[in-house]
Amino acid sequence: MTIWYGGDYNPEQWPREVWDEDVTLMQRGGITLATVGVFSWARLEPRPGEYDFAWLDDVLDTLHDGGIRVDLATATASPPPWLAKRHPETLPVTEQGVRLAVGSRQQYCPSSPVYRERARQLVTRLVERYAQHPALELWHVNNEYGCHVSHCYCEVSAAAFRTWLEAKYGSIDGLNRAWGTAFWSQRYDGFDEVEPPRAAPSFRNPTQLLDFDRFSSDELLACYRSEVEVIRAASEMPVTTNFMGFFKPVDYWKWAREVDLVSDDTYPDPADPISVPYAAMVRDLMRSLGDGAPWILMEQSPGAVNWRPQNAAKAPGQMRAWSYQAVGRGADGILFFQWRQSAAGSEKFHSGMVPHGGTDTRVWREIEQLGGELQRLSGPEVGLEGSRVPTQVAIALDWDSWWAVEQPASPTSVSYLETLFAWHHALTSLGLTVDFVRADADLSGYRLVVAPTHFVATDAQLENLAAFAEAGGTLVVGFGTGITDEHLHVRLGGYLGEPLRRTLGVWIEEFAPPAAPDLRAVGGGAAPPVALDGDVLGGAASGAVWAEYVRVEDAATEATFAEGALAGWPAVTRRGAAGGGGAAWYVATLPEAEALGRLVTRIVDEAGIELPSSVAHGGRVEVVRRGGLVFAINHGADEVELVVEGTDLLTGSGAAGLVLPSQGVAVVRPE
Ligand code: GLA
Repeated sequence: MTIWYGGDYNPEQWPREVWDEDVTLMQRGGITLATVGVFSWARLEPRPGEYDFAWLDDVLDTLHDGGIRVDLATATASPPPWLAKRHPETLPVTEQGVRLAVGSRQQYCPSSPVYRERARQLVTRLVERYAQHPALELWHVNNEYGCHVSHCYCEVSAAAFRTWLEAKYGSIDGLNRAWGTAFWSQRYDGFDEVEPPRAAPSFRNPTQLLDFDRFSSDELLACYRSEVEVIRAASEMPVTTNFMGFFKPVDYWKWAREVDLVSDDTYPDPADPISVPYAAMVRDLMRSLGDGAPWILMEQSPGAVNWRPQNAAKAPGQMRAWSYQAVGRGADGILFFQWRQSAAGSEKFHSGMVPHGGTDTRVWREIEQLGGELQRLSGPEVGLEGSRVPTQVAIALDWDSWWAVEQPASPTSVSYLETLFAWHHALTSLGLTVDFVRADADLSGYRLVVAPTHFVATDAQLENLAAFAEAGGTLVVGFGTGITDEHLHVRLGGYLGEPLRRTLGVWIEEFAPPAAPDLRAVGGGAAPPVALDGDVLGGAASGAVWAEYVRVEDAATEATFAEGALAGWPAVTRRGAAGGGGAAWYVATLPEAEALGRLVTRIVDEAGIELPSSVAHGGRVEVVRRGGLVFAINHGADEVELVVEGTDLLTGSGAAGLVLPSQGVAVVRPE
């Protein structure tokens, strides 16, 4: 067992003699795992049905001789130009009806039977040839499913959508009821009349949009399954496909059940001040998708990327600091895109582990340093790989709600992710580590569960959240929760849904969101804040995004709205659970960071969750616990002093009074 270290390896971009140098350098850099063949289809099958594996044999043998393990890709992410030439219908179509062309990558319609069959044939050959190869460690199916093309609106997709709808609803009456087609004369007389939600004169049917999101995620999953079936028939090795953090088009809860190992690609922007806490949230998601099992950071950049308008370089030490953030939050592998920086093609200005400048460079020295350290942290004496991250707090996450709450024609424009992030950040700022959960998951292992905005809710989800609080857990429910059922039909008789109304002791009469930003305002036009007041928020405070008329039936008002027609109406309520112990909170707006921090502190304290106190962390020091070790990472610009007692495994020295410079890391085994 080891903490994996490596990256995407694309030797086909280089002459043969470079491959030997690659392996020598990989050994020097402590590389243990190389992802091979991600974009090799055109090289492996230069003409339909004509395969060339000799070069890949050579690559795998060369890596194996050098002691490097292989994460072998199925090479299906970018079909060769001949596929579109012969089968133009495999090219995807946008909602405006534009057919996308060859010359980039990922130009395939996920529903295309031709694409799927060609991909299967390639995978069949790869598996036949390499399933028993001694270098093989992991199968890497396709690459970043949906990254560029997540929804396709072509005729082939339309037919597949109809089949999917027929299987779901059974009859056209069922679809008409679920979609509410009595509205705007949308009634369908048969499935043959139904189309994907292509560009239309005005708002498209909301349930049609939601079903198309679900369908599109499922079609990509069907592509994945079709390849995995071939692999599993002939290979025992584990299978993964690389996720992309909080990626809206793909419902990772469904996918996570079908990978042997969760892996993730994350590219935080060094120029963005929220990158560190946001990346922490992504890492927490990856751990949660695998039910707490270790995951792999499959791709990050050694330095700058090349796809933002401005591509900031990572500060010295930042790549290492961010890598330890991933390990501390449960990663058992740190990999990069890519090994050797390309000399040609669209990504030649994307950093690589071996930069254009070669090995006498800062980037390479940092790669070597981290490789050495991860080797020292691997093995049973340290006990890091395979270990878990203890958590007591969870946030409910649900793709249906994400898709629906951001649809047009909604009460206000909510960013689902920003809302989740506000709560996650408030909790992690207290030093807590947070899991993500499905609202219908077993919640009994947590003391506190937050559902920041669970817009689309099944009865089972509402019952489950309510039962958690009734059983003594602390439940926090945010605005925009329980508004509709799974078909986007509004829950009538007061928003929130019956089980939560009982548990929270409130219901929602009317939405009253703040005005939109005034775009004529001098200097920008921020949305006017929502005025709030209450000790639990620290007195007068402000909120954003949402406000509403909350009707209290059986709860204490802890904070109120403070201005306008809403003045005096409840903004934060609390109901103690009947059995004692737990509590059920309702929060009818998004309090600004400081006020939310105060509120969260009170809730956490009352829930009996102990805050880590062993480390004095001023501002930007991240402290996480994993497998009995404490990871302390200084993301700030100034050095800080740690007061944790123990041994820093990176330096071997006692950690009490240890000084961490900017971007410094300590991995401490407490006394
Ligand atoms: C993604 C892809 C890689 C590469 C990187 C660049 O993660 O999987 O092939 O394009 O982005 O950042």
